[in-house]
This record gives sequence, C-alpha cells and structure tokens, in this order.
Amino acid sequence: MDVPKQSLQGHLCAPFLLICGLVLASGCAGRQPTGPAGFPVKDPHSFSRPAEVSVTHLTLLLDVDFETRTIKGEAAWRIRNPAGARELRLDTRGLTIRRVQLLEDGRISEGSFLLGEQKPLLGQSLLVPIEPGTREVLIAYETTGEADALQWLAARQTAGKKEPFLFTQSQAILARTWLPCQDTPAVRFTYTAAVEVPGSLSAVMSAGRKGDPKELPGGRKRFLFEMPQAIPSYLMALAVGDLVFRPLGRRSGVYAEPAVVESAAWEFADTEKMMEACEELFGPYRWGRYDILVLPPSFPFGGMENPRLTFATPTILAGDRSLVALVAHELAHSWSGNLVTNATWDDFWLNEGFTVYLEHRIMERLYGKEYDEMLARLGLDELSKTIQELHPADTHLKLDLRGRDPDDGMTDVAYEKGYLFLRMLEGAFGRERWDTFLRSYFDRFSFQPMTTEGFLAFLDQGLLAGDRALAKRLRIDEWVYGPGLPANLPLVRSEALRKAAAAAGYFSAGLGAEVLKTDGWTTHEWLHFLRHLPADLPADRLADLDRVFGLTASKNSEILCQWFLAALPAGYSPVMKPLESFLVSVGRRKFLSPLYRELAKTPGGLRRAQEIYARARPGYHPVAIGTIDEILGWKD
Ligand code: BES
Ligand code: ZN
Repeated sequence: MDVPKQSLQGHLCAPFLLICGLVLASGCAGRQPTGPAGFPVKDPHSFSRPAEVSVTHLTLLLDVDFETRTIKGEAAWRIRNPAGARELRLDTRGLTIRRVQLLEDGRISEGSFLLGEQKPLLGQSLLVPIEPGTREVLIAYETTGEADALQWLAARQTAGKKEPFLFTQSQAILARTWLPCQDTPAVRFTYTAAVEVPGSLSAVMSAGRKGDPKELPGGRKRFLFEMPQAIPSYLMALAVGDLVFRPLGRRSGVYAEPAVVESAAWEFADTEKMMEACEELFGPYRWGRYDILVLPPSFPFGGMENPRLTFATPTILAGDRSLVALVAHELAHSWSGNLVTNATWDDFWLNEGFTVYLEHRIMERLYGKEYDEMLARLGLDELSKTIQELHPADTHLKLDLRGRDPDDGMTDVAYEKGYLFLRMLEGAFGRERWDTFLRSYFDRFSFQPMTTEGFLAFLDQGLLAGDRALAKRLRIDEWVYGPGLPANLPLVRSEALRKAAAAAGYFSAGLGAEVLKTDGWTTHEWLHFLRHLPADLPADRLADLDRVFGLTASKNSEILCQWFLAALPAGYSPVMKPLESFLVSVGRRKFLSPLYRELAKTPGGLRRAQEIYARARPGYHPVAIGTIDEILGWKD
C-alpha cells in the first residue's frame, strides 16, 4: 500500500497537534440523529449508519495542489459510539484512501479499511473496523479527477486572469468526493481545518478564520479555520484564489477577486440591514459572521448557503442592486436549512420552501410589499410552468428520491410550492400567531435534522392544536403529499407586472417599441414583459425592441438570458454572437439549461448548441456538465 508522501506527513503532524488543542466539540454536536419527535431518519443517499456510530468533530488538514489538481487530505473524525459498535461507515466517491489510523486513549494504532461496491451517484462505502474504545478515526486520502464537488479554474477563467482558482460545491451529495464523511444532512459535526495553498492565494471556508495565515517553506501558506457550530457535510465548503476582503457591516463582508470586490461591496450594501430584519423576525443569528464570497462566473448556482460564507455567482452584480433577493435567500438559510436542516433530500422543501418564505419576508421589510409581490408573482409563474412539465409525483412537496439523484428534487416545487404552502398557513393563522410559531420552530429545533412529518407534527401540536377539521380545510395533506397546486392557493397579484404583461400584449399587437411605457421598470418588469412575448414574433419586431432598449447589450444577466430566450424562436440573428460568448463565459445552470434547451429545439439550433458546448464544456462545473450533457445527448 502506498504511504503518504513524507513531506505531507512531516508538516501534517505539527498542525495536527496544534488544531487538536484548539477546539472541543460543542455541546450540540452530540445530539445524533433521530428525527424530531422520534421520527426515524433513513437517508437513501448515504451508506453511513449514524444511529450506530456518528461523527461529532472533524480535524482536517488539506494540501491544495493546483499542478495536479488534487487535494491531499487527512481527516480525523471524532466519533460517538454509544453501543460499542465495531465499524464506522463513511461515504466516499472517487477518493483514493491511503491509510487509516485509530486513536484510543491518546494512542495511535494502524487501522484497516474496506471499500464497498461502487454505486452510481452514491460512490462507495468506506468501512473502518473500530474498537468500542476508539475515539478518533484518521484517514489519509487524495481526491481524483472524479471529484465532482471541485472546480479547478485556470487563470484565464477568473476575473484577474493571473491566478488559478478552486471552489467546492458539496450540496447535495458531493462532499464525499473531497472528504470521506457521513454524507447525510442528518449528521452534524464541528470542525477545525488547516489548509495549505500556494503563497499568492488565499483560502476561505464555511468557518471562522483563525489568526493570520502562516508562511511555509516552498512559498506556500497555511490558513487555519475553526467552525464551532455543528454543520452537516453538505455545508462543508472551501475556496482558494486571489481573494480580497471588504467589510460591509459590523459582522458582514465580501470576499472577491480584486477586480470585482468594489462592485460587489456596492451591490451588497444592504446585507447588514437584511441580517437585522432576519433577527427581528426569526431570532438571533447564531453563526458569528456573515460574509459573501463572489465566485468566478462558472459557479453553477446562483448562491450556496455555506455557513458564515455564502458562495454567490457574479451574475447577480447587475449594478443596480436589483438581484439582491439572492443574498436575502442565502442569508435566510442561516435559519431554514443551516439551523433546522432537512433530514434527507426527500425533505428538501423544508430547506428551500422555508427559505423562499423567509426571503420574501426580508424583501418585504426592506423594499416594501409591492416590490416583493412582484418577485412572488414571478416565482408563481415559473412554478406553474414547471408543474406542467414535471411528472405529477415530482410535484409533491415530500419526495421519494430513493434510487434517484437528489438533484431531481431541486425544482421550483420545493422552492415555490413550499413558499406558497407556508404563505397559505400564514394567511390562515394571521401573521402574529404564525410568526411566533415560526420563531419557536427555529428555537426548538436549531442544530437538528427535521423531517416533513416532524414539521407537520409540530404544526399539529402548535397552531392546529389537533383540530383535524381545520387541517382538512387547509388541505395540508394535499399540499404536502399531493400533486400540483391545491385550490386554497394564496392570491399573488402584482399591479406592476400586470402592466408589464399588458405592454407585451400591446407590443405583440403591433405597437412600436418607442411608445411602450417602460419608465421606472426594474429587472422584474422586464423579465415579465419578455416572458409574455409570443414565440412567433417576426425578427423585425425584435429588432425594433433591441434598437429602442439595447437588450442585446444588456449587462443584466437575467434580462440578457430572457432576451435570448425570446429572440431565439424568432430567429433574430444579432443575438447569436453575444449568446455564444454568454454560454462560454457563464456557468450558472439556471441560465444554461433553458438556453441549450431552446437551441436544441431545431436541428440547426442543436448543431449550433453542440458546437458552442464543445468549446464551453471544459469551463463548466461538473454539476452543470451533468445537466447539459443530458439536454444535448452529449457523449463524452
Ligand atoms: N441551496 C441552494 C442551492 C443548491 C440546492 C445546490 C440543491 C445544490 C443542490 C441555494 O440556496 C439556492 O437555492 N440557490 C438558488 C438561488 C435562490 C435565490 C433561489 C440558485 O442557485 O438558483
Ligand atoms: Zn436555497
């Protein structure tokens, strides 16, 4: 068996002892992992058996190598083994396991391990025989080219074009591709980490930074991190690049490449206000700092709620703060998701539906009801389209994703139907009682996993007070376990959007673009207007719109994407070049999927899409590649 390289071993020992002493697992890390109110948690996406042995704390040493595009790691897992079980099961996918050691009463001994059968999506179980007295399990490992959580960017894919970049995306079940772990959201652990990177770069994690980085021989640097709040594996996150920091408020700030940081700090100026609104509504912010990391444009999502450090796409830097609902959303996850966490991916709506609900409460507080209602209406319209397209069983809030990719559950249903369900409940009980209930939910279940049934039981004991007839009138079972949208769907009406849709109607009836009344339109009216244009508009009408409003030259990624979607079916050819550069430079899946799908509708478009994709694919994150490969029937 290969042993770890001497150099790695050599400098790993010192920091290991150093960080072992830094932190004792916090009290909340020990509570594992039955669901609320005694509901059992069986996660079909993990090989781990946390009811027997669960991890409570991680001491992690990472050596980030941009030359080989690998991370060499040592993970020391502190475990809880109440019944004296004889094995620890972890999840891995595409990891090379080098060595396992066991720690018992301060003594280290050599351990053994067994990798299970390779399963698609899930990877392999890593079975480590342990003794009842084993306190910690140390695993030396390396990532491989199959680490789908990692995106390694060449310097040319960054804003500064001088330094490479690395970021992780662990949700939903990709943490196991860069860290052997119990990769289920039902298990939480605290962590400390030491991360070694090239001296010209900085490392950030979903954790607090501990002191200043230390210069190491060979021009490298070591960053120390400490995460005293227990988190599930999907919230493990790391980014390495040429990063600088700007404060936003007393406990918030933004990290970005130097070329981007000023505009990011301007765009996110309201972050501290959002935090204050959240605390008033949902209870204290329990994570210390809240920072935002702006990633290069290949980041496959809009945002990711990594604790203490939201990861965000640069495509929300619109220059007019019109896309900051995303910050409200990721910040809101500090309560819904990061504090009270979906127990399995079948309960994903508990994370996202609650978060969209919280997001709207923040947006309403900061920018007013009318503005927020516009956002809600756009959400409902998207949801209605999604429901038409999905299999009815995939439109339930509670899902059954056994044997499927958890990504399949990542639809507007969890987000928007989840939101509407909670808004319906708010309407039924009145805001005052509902808010008290919501706050007690976060207080009572903080740092714990939550199942759909656990939430329904809490609702039943609380607001419903066991009133079956009321539950029936509110159609609660229909919302959660039924398809589509129940009849007591709340009304979501926006006058501003009604006007934008009317403008689209006038325009399609022949009115010239220059007489349209678009004064004061925000991004959202534009999106609504563009979505209401008929697919069969002739190209010269689109040319008219473009001449008056300069849409092809828009710097707003949302408007630009929607404009491309309107222009493609009309065969309005001036968009083709800009569309191509958009697809090659931006990796946000929400934009890529509809654009490639639209292109693929005609044989000529499909050929074009394939040509563009061949060039763009190497620059996309594995998560986006998976989706677009499927859309275009791409064989690697
Ligand atoms: N947690 C999600 C992103 C996610 C979900 C990643 C499932 C992987 C699997 C994040 O909070 C999110 O919802 N992001 C949205 C933006 C939001 C404003 C709706 C996105 O990226 O589009
Ligand atoms: Zn979210």
